[in-house]
Amino acid sequence: MPSIFETSSTPSAVPITFVTKSSWPGIKESLSPEARNFAEANVYAAKPGSCLILPGSDGRIAQVLFGIEDADARHRDLFRPGSLPGLLPTGIYRFANAPHDARLAALAFALGSYRFGRYRKAEEPDVRLVPPDGVDAAELDRLADAACLARDLVNTPSNDMGPEELEAAAKQVAERFGARFSSIVGDELLQQNHPLIHAVGRASTRTPRLIELNWGDADHPKVTLVGKGVCFDTGGLDLKPSSSMLLMKKDMGGAANVLALAQMVMDAKLKLQLRVLIPAVENAVAGNAFRPMDVFPSRKGLTVEIGNTDAEGRLILADALALADEDKPELLIDMGTLTGAARVALGPELPPFYTNDEALAADVARCAAAENDPLWRMPLWAPYDSWLDSKVATLNNAPSGGFAGSITCALFLQRFVEPTTRWLHLDIFAWTPSAKPGRPEGGECQAARALYKLLSERYG
Ligand code: BES
Ligand code: MN
Ligand code: ZN
Repeated sequence: MPSIFETSSTPSAVPITFVTKSSWPGIKESLSPEARNFAEANVYAAKPGSCLILPGSDGRIAQVLFGIEDADARHRDLFRPGSLPGLLPTGIYRFANAPHDARLAALAFALGSYRFGRYRKAEEPDVRLVPPDGVDAAELDRLADAACLARDLVNTPSNDMGPEELEAAAKQVAERFGARFSSIVGDELLQQNHPLIHAVGRASTRTPRLIELNWGDADHPKVTLVGKGVCFDTGGLDLKPSSSMLLMKKDMGGAANVLALAQMVMDAKLKLQLRVLIPAVENAVAGNAFRPMDVFPSRKGLTVEIGNTDAEGRLILADALALADEDKPELLIDMGTLTGAARVALGPELPPFYTNDEALAADVARCAAAENDPLWRMPLWAPYDSWLDSKVATLNNAPSGGFAGSITCALFLQRFVEPTTRWLHLDIFAWTPSAKPGRPEGGECQAARALYKLLSERYG
């Protein structure tokens, strides 16, 4: 995504004044009589999100008023200014006064300028912003560019984003930052001992694969990212009903967000050794599809009984996590669009995360809040672990009962990671169902900005 920031000196930039219900009377007084009359004629009341463009005496745009919440409001949306690119005409603007958080406001401005334009000319707004004082515009550009990579990958429909295209996208990121790249494709997955990735992906004419990217100095601590890359999830033989299948092009959202995070890390040259693993498959229906009650070995050695072919994400992540764990990373992070239960519990905007490392949990929660990239901790609740028991195998991929679905998924994955590994798991949604400021409808970058902050604090 091209930068929206105007870094050359532009004295003519149109000022945007942020107003709240309580600051509005004073600001109104300070306006010229014409502008005040214009605001009154428009019944402008500084409601959060409301925008008024004030003409000057020459009829040109002189100033913009934009409502935000008062400082003591029950909820302040720090991304509110992210709706401005969709409201303002083409031009160059600057903040005349400080919104609650100028950095997040400018970031929201950049994130709110995104439109998905692969199949028709994007109505991407041409609204540029002079970076507020003290804000690192180059950093915001890097974050927004990576976030929009994740959005583009998720928004691209499955016919143009199969396992092979996802591999090509990952390779492009690798080449851009000089990372090493490899991939294990098709039956080679069996030879290299990835039976679960193969089982899930084998029914598709679009060959399953395990994508790998490596970057950074071998002397630095190793951080490994694993992302669920289900390029379409029909549910397999336990087929999804049409309403549930509709959005399943987004089922590679974990992979997209892991790539976004990897790009942020590489672009900022953090002092870590980065490994990215993306099991990429299509969960399809065909004569050779894996079936309910099939039993498969796994890379870790545990045998897995298939309770439901629609619980496929945890299967491919299980093999990838086992591989990731073999070289003992200092930090192992996985994310994926794993359960509908996560959305039922916390809604689409607040993905749950899981870890047994208390210091890591506190850092994740703090970074998520600071970056307005919300995440909420849920427990690896050991008493539910027995729900994964199978009568014929080490464990079952889909506990019956349907209680605590996001937790039991996390517990399933935990079996494939050594207890000594510092491990973080995120069950993301990767989608904005209806547009919010700074968050256009469609594919969304979730958790990557929060985790980038965490990694830059630890390895900056
Ligand atoms: N990709 C889905 C989860 C999903 C569904 C995420 C809707 C976001 C929105 C996943 O593969 C899945 O189907 N999970 C099942 C698990 C169940 C069969 C144990 C689910 O959540 O119903
Ligand atoms: Mn599924
Ligand atoms: Zn899925």
